[in-house]
Amino acid sequence: MAWALITGASHGIGRDVARLAADDVSGLLLTGRDEGALQALAAELLRPGLQVEVLAADLAKPEGVQAVIDWTRGLGVIPDLLVNNAGLGAWGLSRDLPPDAEATIVKVNVLALTRLTQAFQAAMVARGSGRILNMASTAAFQPGPWMAAYYASKAYVLHYSEALSHELDGTGVTVTALCPGPTQSSFHERAGSRRSTLVVGGLLPVAESAFVARAGYRGARLGRRLVVPGLVNTLAVFLVRCVPRRMATAIAAWVARPARG
Ligand SMILES: NC(=O)c1ccc[n+]([C@@H]2O[C@H](COP(=O)([O-])OP(=O)(O)OC[C@H]3O[C@@H](n4cnc5c(N)ncnc54)[C@H](OP(=O)(O)O)[C@@H]3O)[C@@H](O)[C@H]2O)c1
Repeated sequence: MAWALITGASHGIGRDVARLAADDVSGLLLTGRDEGALQALAAELLRPGLQVEVLAADLAKPEGVQAVIDWTRGLGVIPDLLVNNAGLGAWGLSRDLPPDAEATIVKVNVLALTRLTQAFQAAMVARGSGRILNMASTAAFQPGPWMAAYYASKAYVLHYSEALSHELDGTGVTVTALCPGPTQSSFHERAGSRRSTLVVGGLLPVAESAFVARAGYRGARLGRRLVVPGLVNTLAVFLVRCVPRRMATAIAAWVARPARG
């Protein structure tokens, strides 16, 4: 029986990953905060031979993360595929953001992802198989003024995933860092970044979430270390490594600044 555990499955990219996994696994564990959306997805995906379980949990809270771990273990599941997708951002100068905004980003994007990876990787190694798909971003490749904590959180995800991937070499367990560029979802609405040049200005192509999910899911199944969906994004993350960091930071600030008008 193959199981996939997917965080942030209620909306956006995570929901599309769940739709793909439903064709391959025999059990899906779907988590997010929006229970109604999780139930709707479970009803959509349910088919003969597929067990779908949902749990509403807030990954910004340690007890929410623990609830996901206990729930999974309680079902006797060591995930064959762990998708650490849940994440959020907050757009604005760091000094102007609400007091908890940046800490919440770190709690969900960094701490919860680390805790969930930690909870299951040893058992995956003991079993000799497992796929971990961690949601980073093209934001991971340079500092990002206007979304400073978000960019830094994704740099953590990228570096953590690449390091684990190396540590796990030869164990049968792989870690894939998925690094999408701008993607259609509720992310920018929630992050308050709809007014940024990046979103308004059409500087970069905006991918469909299903396209990003397909690239990440395929990469994880193949055991790839890094997946950057789309040619423009691939080029951008290559070029950013060729310029001084101060310049890369200035370009990121220019791209994310408030749009005129
Ligand atoms: N959209 C982009 O341009 C883009 C680009 C690169 C990377 N990403 C990354 O892709 C991932 C998915 O984002 P998305 O674009 O699909 O955005 P989205 O539509 O806003 O989905 C975010 C998902 O994360 C979950 N989530 C957020 N905060 C949570 C919390 N405190 N506890 C539990 N779950 C929480 C949400 O669950 P609820 O709705 O149930 O709260 C939702 O399912 C994120 O890690 C994001 O950083 C997005």
